[in-house]
Amino acid sequence: MRRDSVGYTMMVAAVLCIVCSVLVSGAAVGLRSRQQANKDAFRKENILIAAGMLEKNQSVEELFEARIQEQLIDLATGTPASPDAVPAPYDQRSAARDPDLSVGIDAAQDVAGIKRREKYSQVYLVRQENGELEKIVLPVYGKGLWSTLRGFLALEADLNTVAGLTFYEHKETPGLGGEIDNPLWKAKWPGKLLRDSEGAIQLEVIKGQVQAGTPRAQHQIDGLSGATITSRGVSNLIRYWLSDNAFGPFLDQIAKGNLGESDG
Ligand SMILES: Cc1cc2nc3c(=O)[nH]c(=O)nc-3n(C[C@H](O)[C@H](O)[C@H](O)COP(=O)(O)O)c2cc1C
Repeated sequence: MRRDSVGYTMMVAAVLCIVCSVLVSGAAVGLRSRQQANKDAFRKENILIAAGMLEKNQSVEELFEARIQEQLIDLATGTPASPDAVPAPYDQRSAARDPDLSVGIDAAQDVAGIKRREKYSQVYLVRQENGELEKIVLPVYGKGLWSTLRGFLALEADLNTVAGLTFYEHKETPGLGGEIDNPLWKAKWPGKLLRDSEGAIQLEVIKGQVQAGTPRAQHQIDGLSGATITSRGVSNLIRYWLSDNAFGPFLDQIAKGNLGESDG
């Protein structure tokens, strides 16, 4: 075949396409397990960050394995999910959109703006060396201004004192809503109280600065300036996920002493 013919050009283009697509799909398939491992390490790292336990020079994997117990719970009851009810492996994110594995949220209760939520959620129990419960870490998400904010909220074993909050995914504007990643802002969370003495959720990001010494200061976090909508999104997702419609039943189980003992 002549090298300057149309047929030859088409053949070279076709061979190039086939070779490249084999290379790309080979790389995608070959690297899948490594991608999954990286995703898993990132999740564990963020859980440790929320719990205030991430330490330099220590393996995330080892720290996680040594101190954290993962549990899949049925949000409706707060008890461990029955293995028959949940497909394995369980992808919580896609479950939140699966009609069989999620429930719709009434508009009046949907303060986090997520419309549906998964029926089953992972929770993370942080154990002391003697096996006693030290903290719990809960996955939380809800609407910000431009995006869904996804993160972890950690509570001390009293289930009322915040141990930490971190977001691992969002598309808010850097310098505005994106300041939810700022370590100085995240440092304002530990020690704040979730509920008042009546048990109502009061933890919130306010507009402006918290007035130290006022009765509500223990529940309040400074707002992000120029980012009231993202700030409100953070308050709202906490209000939803810690309510009786989401993790409330699980928190009740822990308060009753169920699940609080180490199984290992
Ligand atoms: C380009 C651009 C990006 C913005 N990004 C955010 C954001 O990420 N989060 C947010 O709450 N507000 C953001 N805003 C501001 C909101 O539109 C709104 O004005 C603001 O949330 C009000 O907050 P303030 O009362 O503190 O000014 C952005 C505005 C502009 C023009």
